[in-house]
Amino acid sequence: MSGGDNLAHPEDYFEIRPNPAPVSDAERAALLANPGFGRIFSDHMVTIRYADGKGWYEPRVEARAPIPMDPATAVLHYAQEIFEGLKAYTMPDGGVAMFRPDANAARFGESARRMAMPALPEATFLESLRQIITIDRQWIPQTEDGSLYLRPFAYASEVFLGVRPAMEYLYLVIASPVGPYFAGGVKPVTVWVTPDYTRAAPGGTGAAKCGGNYAAGLSAQAEAIEHGCEQVVYLDAVERRYVDELGGMNVVFVMDDGSLVTPPLTGTILPGITRDSIIKLAHRAGRRVEERAVSFDEWRDGAASGRIREVFACGTAAVITPIGAVRSQEGEFRVADGGAGEVTMGLRQELVDIQRGRAEDPFGWVHRVL
Ligand code: PLP
Ligand code: COI
Repeated sequence: MSGGDNLAHPEDYFEIRPNPAPVSDAERAALLANPGFGRIFSDHMVTIRYADGKGWYEPRVEARAPIPMDPATAVLHYAQEIFEGLKAYTMPDGGVAMFRPDANAARFGESARRMAMPALPEATFLESLRQIITIDRQWIPQTEDGSLYLRPFAYASEVFLGVRPAMEYLYLVIASPVGPYFAGGVKPVTVWVTPDYTRAAPGGTGAAKCGGNYAAGLSAQAEAIEHGCEQVVYLDAVERRYVDELGGMNVVFVMDDGSLVTPPLTGTILPGITRDSIIKLAHRAGRRVEERAVSFDEWRDGAASGRIREVFACGTAAVITPIGAVRSQEGEFRVADGGAGEVTMGLRQELVDIQRGRAEDPFGWVHRVL
């Protein structure tokens, strides 16, 4: 589907309507002291509309506010919706940068195609992020592990109950100041291998970042929490043997020879930008990386024999978080001593230092905004 090209020079088109009643400096400072994850939001949002035959139109920066919806709005019934997640950071010189926003723009386009939605031009996606960061830069936490989490998303806004791709869409960006995703910060997490649920089958929507994938995973996540675990591990939907990914993160194994192993992108897992960054950094450092299927048996046996030394979860929200213990119907096992591994923490430091402008950016990933 064509995205329409009437936003060829997006920087010229955004209409800016500043929030007439922004949060006061004192209140914002109090909120930023302990933001948590996804609980508080900045003063503005971006909106862009789409209609078949017209393309994308009315790009706007406006006060963050509820979006009135007709009860027959298509997304409420058939979940035609996609989203992205990326972070903006304060740089050592006081400027602001995003990490690999072009990769999020490309993935947003892929998700749109899979969900039969019009693709937003990538330049417009990037400009929408620049706009919200510029107007809400005071919402970026200045804490060591804080950042402004950007959530671009789009949904079927047409009022129609027939089952077919909608003819009208709304794209928005909201911004949320965040600290660590897990309450314990980088403390190792425990994961639950669900025996009951799968996340994505071949031919399904596993590689798309669509809300429906997360809705379908909530029962599994609830099961994980009941078992005292922070995240759910999904096994493949066909054989129920191979590790796919976690509810909101990719997974990487560190072997006893120092190499990394991570499940391949076969269409059932999200192609994580953090995952890709780790692979590229590892290659650059001369570390071997294998993208291949890892069975749950290999994980359990490898943890017992010492062949698997460390395991970590990776994603924008989680950054790199060690996995210390694994629970399943069979019981629980630890990875090594259950603590944060050296390779995991080294890769985490390397990545965070690039993201925050404290280390050389060998791949041109840091996209300066201000
Ligand atoms: N897998 C899932 C299901 C996710 O929700 C995420 C988070 O976005 C990831 C993996 C990691 O992707 P990224 O590193 O691009 O944030
Ligand atoms: C992200 O890391 O951006 C995600 O979408 C994952 C979610 C668990 C917050």
